[in-house]
Amino acid sequence: MIPIIKPSFGIEEEKTVLEIIRSGQITRGRWTIKFKNAFRDYIGAGFCHPVCSGTSALYISLKAIGINKKEDIVIVPAFSFMATIDAVILAGGTPVVVDVGEDYCIDVNKLEEAIEKYSPKAVIPVHLFGQPADMDKIKELCKEKDVIILEDSAQSHGAEYRGKKTGVLGDISAFSFYASKNVAMGEGGAILTSNPDLDEKISNWIEFGNHPALNLRITEFQAGIGYWQLQKLEKNNEKRRKIAYLYNKEFENLPALEIPKEFEGRKHVYHIYALRHPKRDEIIEKLIQKGIGARIYYEYTLHQLRDAEHLDCSFAEQLAKDIFAIPIHPALTDNEINYIIDTVKEIVKNI
Ligand SMILES: Cc1ncc(COP(=O)(O)O)c(C=O)c1O
Repeated sequence: MIPIIKPSFGIEEEKTVLEIIRSGQITRGRWTIKFKNAFRDYIGAGFCHPVCSGTSALYISLKAIGINKKEDIVIVPAFSFMATIDAVILAGGTPVVVDVGEDYCIDVNKLEEAIEKYSPKAVIPVHLFGQPADMDKIKELCKEKDVIILEDSAQSHGAEYRGKKTGVLGDISAFSFYASKNVAMGEGGAILTSNPDLDEKISNWIEFGNHPALNLRITEFQAGIGYWQLQKLEKNNEKRRKIAYLYNKEFENLPALEIPKEFEGRKHVYHIYALRHPKRDEIIEKLIQKGIGARIYYEYTLHQLRDAEHLDCSFAEQLAKDIFAIPIHPALTDNEINYIIDTVKEIVKNI
């Protein structure tokens, strides 16, 4: 089976894990500092706090911006991984869900409507599947009404919007380093900001001392693996982009199949390569029979999943019915890529 997800580890990660075991310093050591500084500088933020998951990064970001009570409204897109909405609920705020657009990220016209209607404290644009949300428009709307922007950058390591990396396009951002991510540690996350006041608030929540805190630290093993993953990120993202280009070229004229679009001024890093087809379930079944690990991302929408307040989200509801993903990880060989292309073409033409 060609897996949908496969981390690309090499000799550097192996040597570093062994070195950490032999050193006896397995947490709060030099690799954690090395990773923290390298990731901060790569994204271009002022401060970086590694934590144990993307979900905890979102949760702490929300606490740092003051989401505590049900009057604290946070706008989230209808189509994302469930942690995007769960973090808001766990922080004590009220999520309001709006539809996504053709880029599968938050629909800026619907966001405008939701800001007018709900006077939210914050919005969480998700750079879904690795494509940056329409940040110029989002920033313009949020600036006008003093809405804080928390970027959910869990899927967009290295993606760019008009030349700037996702993670520095709002007030604060949350990354995930889960096993499938473009930078993978197994489990892990990071909170980034360039605002010293938010930086202090984040520290209060995750460092024991002045304020009740949570231990969300990563170990040296995770940091060491993450450091080397980061060194390979640009090369691996280029490989993902090259595969996406090949897939798009081969699939663009297949009947009823919709391929992903990369929007002007945005660099997509294809964390997930998502296709749409009305017979999605049958296609997945056939791909799996042929040894290709196709999967649905996502078969739910966030308002339906958590019974949340929402505007009309009919596009996201449609996506949940017809979207699916095929493997795009950088460990794919040329033979595997060609096999995936030929198999998808054959199945879609005959379905
Ligand atoms: C968009 C999005 N947000 C948040 C998360 C949560 O990250 P984690 O699984 O590291 O808690 C993920 C990843 O799984 C994600 O894809």
